[in-house]
Amino acid sequence: MLSAKLLTNFNDQINKEIYSAYLYLAMASYAKSIGLDGVANWFNVQVQEELSHARKLYDYVNEKEERVMLTAVDEPPQNFVSAADLFEKTLSHEKKVTKLIESLVNTARSEKDKIAEDFLQWFVSEQVEEENNAALVLRKIKSAGNDSEKLSAIDKELAKRSMD
Ligand code: FEO
Repeated sequence: MLSAKLLTNFNDQINKEIYSAYLYLAMASYAKSIGLDGVANWFNVQVQEELSHARKLYDYVNEKEERVMLTAVDEPPQNFVSAADLFEKTLSHEKKVTKLIESLVNTARSEKDKIAEDFLQWFVSEQVEEENNAALVLRKIKSAGNDSEKLSAIDKELAKRSMD
């Protein structure tokens, strides 16, 4: 069982994780359209990561014998302009998700649901990794600047990313 408030917040977070997958799917297609197949791969792997986050929350709600209520997913932006722009937006998005996870933890705490609070610690750690991953690639792309050879080398490196 989950409190009504916590259940609502879990449902909202499932929606946000699916939105994250949708956002990164849009970014992957943009990257592919400008010939950055490695960047597209990085985002396609990220799509899988986000769906796995949604699934983890979804399974938890079901394990608590509650029902997941899926809601409409927002349309992601389409106005991307460069690889750097993709990772700027990714980092900014992940920072927002971190705040949402923190808010979810705070709700679990205020609802005195220690099990949910403990369960959510995985997501707290995961967000540190999510922000670091995006920040690392962004730094590399920014340092490449307009050097197409350097950008191509980064693209090749990102092509190697696979699910953990
Ligand atoms: Fe599900 Fe990228 O955090």
